[in-house]
Amino acid sequence: MTYRFPDEFWWGSASSAPQMEGASRRDGKSDNIFDYWFSIEPERFHQGIGPAQTSTFYDRFEPDIALLKQLNHNSFRTSISWSRLIPDGTGEVNQQAVAFYNSVFDRLLAEGITPFINLYHFDMPMCMQARGGWESRDVVAAYVRYAGLCFELFGSRIKHWFTFNEPIVPVECGYLGHFHYPCVVDFRRAVTVAYHTALAHAGAVKAFRDAGACGEIGIILNLSPTYPRSDTAEDSQAARWADLLLNKSFLDPALKGSYDPELVALLRQHDLLPEVADGDKAQLMAGRVDWLGINYYQPRRVKAKEQACSGAPRTPEDLFDFYEMPGRKMNPHRGWEIYEKGVYDILTELRLGYGNPRCYISENGMGVEGEERFIGPEGRVEDDYRIDFIRGHLEWLHRASQEGSACCGYHLWTFIDNWSWLNAYKNRYGLVRLDLASQVRTIKKSGYWFAEVARNHGFN
Ligand code: NOJ
Repeated sequence: MTYRFPDEFWWGSASSAPQMEGASRRDGKSDNIFDYWFSIEPERFHQGIGPAQTSTFYDRFEPDIALLKQLNHNSFRTSISWSRLIPDGTGEVNQQAVAFYNSVFDRLLAEGITPFINLYHFDMPMCMQARGGWESRDVVAAYVRYAGLCFELFGSRIKHWFTFNEPIVPVECGYLGHFHYPCVVDFRRAVTVAYHTALAHAGAVKAFRDAGACGEIGIILNLSPTYPRSDTAEDSQAARWADLLLNKSFLDPALKGSYDPELVALLRQHDLLPEVADGDKAQLMAGRVDWLGINYYQPRRVKAKEQACSGAPRTPEDLFDFYEMPGRKMNPHRGWEIYEKGVYDILTELRLGYGNPRCYISENGMGVEGEERFIGPEGRVEDDYRIDFIRGHLEWLHRASQEGSACCGYHLWTFIDNWSWLNAYKNRYGLVRLDLASQVRTIKKSGYWFAEVARNHGFN
């Protein structure tokens, strides 16, 4: 069977400023929460490798963009670092940062690679975290100012914007778990953080519209379909709650400008509703997006709680449980489920339940631990498993498109193996292998394969 995609389909890969730039304390940049966290607790990070140890895009963006070209990308996503652009969060713009980003964008455009630019990828400036982070409305206002400055400074070059990447992740990992700073476990604070992030997103969209900026603005959400263990009322309800809290809490504001009433009722029932100020409703309404990025890695398999928790839930998981579905297909190199049809299910739900918004798959990829095991005699990673993974997802994406989905592209996570938060380089995702010590880049077998898919707009 032949899988062809439209000529204007976006092909490329994604990364982020904090995961690839390096130069984390150079040329005026201040610390973000990960720079700071590493400085006080380096042992939390896999092999003690922190955010300064990247593929150093800050110094090597020219050859790296040539490599993107070699991989036939027509688009590439990265982010702007708030702590580089406005080191104290609210004050002066760092002109060295402006010059750097302008050079990167000019280079991408000169190579015919359309930059997709995201404004926030988990990287709160530490000075703003010290002022309360997303729990503070002042920080929301500072973010909206930062967004407006980005539109003003880079709007002549950038036409494809995103306000946030995976905004639910800092909520889950930073306020319901211990994987992001500030490592708090408090459902009430988590809800406030999520709500303020949604307001910040909406404020940025409004700033974009008020500025009369050209192009499109959206948000990138990690949508994981929630499949119930059985069709009993209890399991179905549990899956519905997981969907409301983990997917719809950002999807509905982004596409409808309001929250699902069932989510509001659930939070009210547990006395977890955030403080709502005058004008919030109108602000959320203004946050409806032009397009959506969808990060998809694996589904969530959900079952009802075996034992109801007593008192108020401390985390969403007090309302439901995850379970390992027997017989599910696994990535043997990372322990995540592989379920290619999830892509189709997400796109179909968006088409039937949300008016078929313009969207693209902004991340999909396969992390592999110990990938050096697969380096072949020619010195490149022979990652047939990654080719199978991408092909399987693209086949389902193709089917969704045939049925009318407005999905307009596919980006792989990631370009060159990148630093990944607490896991550092534990799981490698790149189309290109990075030797961290020598900084040598070697295209993997999947990189050559993906370049052909992008060139031909499809595969057989
Ligand atoms: C999602 C995030 O956007 C990215 O930062 C992360 O490294 C990848 N997934 C891989 O886990």
